[in-house]
Amino acid sequence: MNETIASILGRRSIRSYKSTPVEKEKIEIILKCGQHAPSGMDRQPWHFTVVTNRALLDKISAENKKIQLKADDEELRRRAEAPDFDNFWGAPMAIIVSGDTNVSSAPADCANAVENMAIAAHSLGLGSCYIASFKAALERPEGEYLLRELRIPKGYAPFYALALGYSSESLGERSPRKKGTITFIE
Ligand SMILES: Cc1cc2nc3c(=O)[nH]c(=O)nc-3n(C[C@H](O)[C@H](O)[C@H](O)COP(=O)(O)O)c2cc1C
Repeated sequence: MNETIASILGRRSIRSYKSTPVEKEKIEIILKCGQHAPSGMDRQPWHFTVVTNRALLDKISAENKKIQLKADDEELRRRAEAPDFDNFWGAPMAIIVSGDTNVSSAPADCANAVENMAIAAHSLGLGSCYIASFKAALERPEGEYLLRELRIPKGYAPFYALALGYSSESLGERSPRKKGTITFIE
């Protein structure tokens, strides 16, 4: 198996991290891989916010915890009650990917960038977790101060984040692949 295929098949969502910071050179390579994802009409409608300030990630999680504690879904409420609730799973950093809200392909383009970065991270010996749940707090008026702190450019909205760091998780078996999802037309 070649290295690219091995990285794609080997990437897993990591939800427990060491506090060891990620090296700047690795962050730069990962960002470059994000910026080289395919995008509709090559518009590249993304913005990458690299957050190594753990206190800011904690603030985002604390706002989300407040929201999630009031969720209709019992499971979501139960998760928010955990004393160590953290949207970023204790990772030392995260890259938030925001999209240009006037570009229709931006959600897909940003998703492509996140996946490129997740695979790149895995190939560099890092763990990552694709995250959408951090957004709720940033979409409410109470969370506007967080958007300002993140310096999200005007006209862009945060779509996804990638938590990044060295894994401290011992992974179990991965879920079986869903059957019946491929059709060959010959
Ligand atoms: C669009 C999207 C949003 C996700 N949001 C979250 C999230 O908020 N929190 C989380 O822990 N995992 C999140 N995940 C990770 C998925 O739960 C994970 O990819 C899935 O369970 C499959 O596991 P794997 O990544 O190890 O293959 C998200 C994944 C995607 C693609």
